Amino acid sequence: MRIDVVTIFPDYLAALDLSLVGKARRAGLLDLRVHDLRAWTADRHRTVDDTPFGGGAGMVMRPDVWGRALDDLTRAGEDGGPAAHIIVPTPSGEVFTQRHAETLATEEHLVVACGRYEGIDARVVEHHRAAGYRVSELSIGDYVLNGGEVAALVMIEAVGRLLPGVVGNPESLVEESHGAAGLLEYPVYTKPPAWAGLEVPEVLLSGHHARIERWRRDQALARTAARRPDMVAALEVAALDRHDLDVLAGLGWVVDGDRLRRAEEGTPGAVAE
Ligand code: ADE
Repeated sequence: MRIDVVTIFPDYLAALDLSLVGKARRAGLLDLRVHDLRAWTADRHRTVDDTPFGGGAGMVMRPDVWGRALDDLTRAGEDGGPAAHIIVPTPSGEVFTQRHAETLATEEHLVVACGRYEGIDARVVEHHRAAGYRVSELSIGDYVLNGGEVAALVMIEAVGRLLPGVVGNPESLVEESHGAAGLLEYPVYTKPPAWAGLEVPEVLLSGHHARIERWRRDQALARTAARRPDMVAALEVAALDRHDLDVLAGLGWVVDGDRLRRAEEGTPGAVAE
């Protein structure tokens, strides 16, 4: 996969030299290039922003500068290569999830446009969509950062680790939180078996594979119910077994058609059933 990142702070992306993503780059699995947006400015001051039409606080990034940058970096598509998928990190985007990471990991070329200030002139996205490019405006969560760089780091790491050969043991991708099961991951433990007066749960030392599996699934269900009721509400009943439903009933969730819903207060009968 090739990823081009455009930013006015290329140094921000230095972290992508480290850890698994850095290793993937050195192994040739990921061709990642970071570019300074100012390379596409045309004036002596290398201006990338201006005041907003209509007034208001802050500065807006100029469409002409971004247009030239994205035209240059997406050009691969025109000589027969794959058309780049343009990612614009922005707090007003759709929320980035593991599903986005999985889809983006199948692309051959991503171009990430990191905005600063109040954002990029809206015509840039409009123009590149009209030109036939896929453009995804994505937020990493409901909070505001100073620019898209940190969000780009998050998305590139989430996508990069899904590329074939990047994570040493692909099995570790299977059971993790936000995987296909729609549950958070169970708690994990290692040696020593007793630490700070706390013991590793007995079942994990039992060597009894089926019991361990069941315990882990129960923990995942309990954690998800406590921390992410929205994820429990999104589970499909058909994907759950009798024991799952019992555990969830114990946590106050009842079957309602093909989904689960929280039993209303004062209806213990529904939970018991
Ligand atoms: N830029 C500023 N805040 C952001 C966020 N929450 N997600 C993505 N890009 C951003």
